[in-house]
Amino acid sequence: MNIDGKAWRTIWLEEGGRTVGVIDQTQLPHKFSTRKLKNCHDVAIAIETMVVRGAPLIGVSGAYGLMLALQEDPSNAGLAAAFKQLNATRPTAVNLQWALKRIANTVKPLAEAERADAARAEANRIANEDVGMCESIGNHGLDIIRGLTAARPAHRQQEPIRILTHCNAGWLATVDWGTALSPIYKAHRAGINLHVWVDETRPRNQGASLTAFELAREGVPHTVIVDNAGGHLMQHGQVDAVIVGSDRTTGCGDVCNKIGTYLKALAAHDNNVPFYVALPISTIDWSLCDGVADIPIEARSSMEVTHIQGRDANNDITHVQLCPDGSEGFNPAFDVTPARLITALITERGVTEASQAGLKKLYSNI
Ligand code: MRU
Repeated sequence: MNIDGKAWRTIWLEEGGRTVGVIDQTQLPHKFSTRKLKNCHDVAIAIETMVVRGAPLIGVSGAYGLMLALQEDPSNAGLAAAFKQLNATRPTAVNLQWALKRIANTVKPLAEAERADAARAEANRIANEDVGMCESIGNHGLDIIRGLTAARPAHRQQEPIRILTHCNAGWLATVDWGTALSPIYKAHRAGINLHVWVDETRPRNQGASLTAFELAREGVPHTVIVDNAGGHLMQHGQVDAVIVGSDRTTGCGDVCNKIGTYLKALAAHDNNVPFYVALPISTIDWSLCDGVADIPIEARSSMEVTHIQGRDANNDITHVQLCPDGSEGFNPAFDVTPARLITALITERGVTEASQAGLKKLYSNI
């Protein structure tokens, strides 16, 4: 997507493919800066500290991380150690292990001297596929938004379609386009009158910082709301649809996404608001069915709850404490929305019901 007239992806190769560049998402929306990742350790730290985040981008970053590791040590032991290190960085988004396995399976049959180049080529393929899948999700989601537009009563035809989203499932969470925001970008570019309700998404506020940043740069009308406002807006007919992303979708259609997604799904269900989840195949964990029981939920630092980051009057990015000294915070980073609360899944292959049958129909060749 464009920033100040320049097209950006979230991750790219530098120095003839020997190092990796990324946008530093910990500084947004206040400062746009990039970082160079020179080795596997740099990538692991970048994932852990949320310099890069969002399930598809975590996967692609992991793939490039393995490439960097193989440049230094292409042995089987080196591969295994780097795989373990990267895979441990964030446990919930299944894209990470999906991408790491793709790289490992590609290089294992090869001679050591060929491994780094093969890993680079495969990581590039994963990144480019991600862009294609996210754009395709956008096209399928655009059909849904067109449908919502057509279904509006005559007296509402001049009003915008109001879509609520949670966390950041835009291009910053992927390589480009995004998942949940991709249909929104497509609709906006197609001239559809839209308004986006952006959940701030405590504790790290990826909505208030990253989603708002993205939408502002694309000129999409939006309003940031506190996480607790969504139910109220739905009760008052102010939300036409909810679209969120996913960090792991089970083979039966349960969706694990940023903490608070489940509460939005409950409110949407109670108010007959359609609740869509946008995701690429890299997010599906075919080995699981019951998401609540079986998806590992990342517990992050309690500091993310007790403190908050923002920009001060001197334009410096700073942290301030919200809670009294000594109060502990608890910080589960994701929750699971059961398939029964989901109107449909928007994938790169089309739109389907959130169920084993629905997913199997779309992915019959997997
Ligand atoms: O903790 P984060 O910022 O990595 O969480 C991101 C999300 O929860 C997104 O909604 C999810 O990765 C889907 S992204 C396209």
